[in-house]
Amino acid sequence: MPQITLRSALVVALVSLSACGLFYTEIDSHPCPPPGTPLRYSSFGAPFMNGYCQSCHGSQAVDRQGAPGEFIFDTLEQIQRHRARIFVRSAANNSSMPPGPDDPPADQRQKLADWLACGAPN
Ligand code: HEC
Repeated sequence: MPQITLRSALVVALVSLSACGLFYTEIDSHPCPPPGTPLRYSSFGAPFMNGYCQSCHGSQAVDRQGAPGEFIFDTLEQIQRHRARIFVRSAANNSSMPPGPDDPPADQRQKLADWLACGAPN
């Protein structure tokens, strides 16, 4: 069945492309705005992570729903360490996290992108 073969090839190609990151914005392609960011951990980073991520990723999460144990975002240091992965999953136009329906609005994802790109300042 040549049609099925073609379709399978396309699916494989698409999956490989997205695995290569072509459909994502990486942290390196989103520069920190020249004057820096007014966003801080206390004013933005902590409330964002607590509001949208920690129900699954927090060390005290009641039901992690499969969130990997090494991806805990309780502290600024943990967020800074994982900031490239957090960016690729949640910042700018990246929206694969959170997986559920309670997505942050686009302007919040843009703020997350700036804050992470500037090094997630305290
Ligand atoms: C409803 C539960 C849930 C919420 C809420 C959630 N996650 Fe996740 N997260 C998961 C699960 C399950 C995985 C493992 C599967 C996967 O990688 O898609 C994961 C994996 C990850 C990973 C590691 C995989 C990788 O690509 O490196 C990162 C980083 C991540 N999430 C970031 C976030 C951020 C940032 C938020 C908040 C904006 C968030 N998640 C909200 C469930 C959740």
